[in-house]
Amino acid sequence: MHRATHRTLLLLCAGLALAAAGTGAHAIERIAPQVDTSALPAQARTWAEPNPLRGNTQAIAIGQSAFNQSCARCHGTDANGSRSPAPDLRRMGKVCLRIEDAALRQRCQGDADTFFIKSLRWGKQKFGIVHMPPWDGVIAPELAWALRSFVEAAPAQPSARP
Ligand code: HEC
Repeated sequence: MHRATHRTLLLLCAGLALAAAGTGAHAIERIAPQVDTSALPAQARTWAEPNPLRGNTQAIAIGQSAFNQSCARCHGTDANGSRSPAPDLRRMGKVCLRIEDAALRQRCQGDADTFFIKSLRWGKQKFGIVHMPPWDGVIAPELAWALRSFVEAAPAQPSARP
């Protein structure tokens, strides 16, 4: 084969590989939630656990809206976990509610909060494959806590998954 043809073929292959990678990146594209968070208290602008907005009804409503805009296509509408393979987020930290000792319960919830925030900010990558994109810089702390408050408050009915 002629040298130039070889080069063209190589370039074509590289182009195809890039196009394929591009399609993959598109599938995990982040959709920034469009919500008004101005009503949320300024104290919530922190990454420090425990969740400063736990049980805050306004935060739950804002979190629900943001969730259905940005997370539902992978985690199911209202976090119902129907969209395999993304996990049902409503179960996170639920086990803490069974702890009677208030201080211990709060520590347990704090751990679950930390895991939630870490997962959200840095995403989920395994062996170079992005299962969930990182949201750091896209979702501000107070909105992250609103999302956390929403999934915690969402009723954990048996998931729609078989
Ligand atoms: C492109 C699909 C996708 C989008 C969009 C997405 N996630 Fe995920 N998420 C996943 C997958 C898949 C996993 C499980 C990955 C793993 O365990 O390796 C996951 C895991 C998580 C976890 C850890 C749960 C656990 O039990 O391990 C949290 C928390 C989470 N996502 C929150 C969110 C929130 C909040 C949003 C919206 C801002 C969101 N995700 C958007 C796909 C997505």
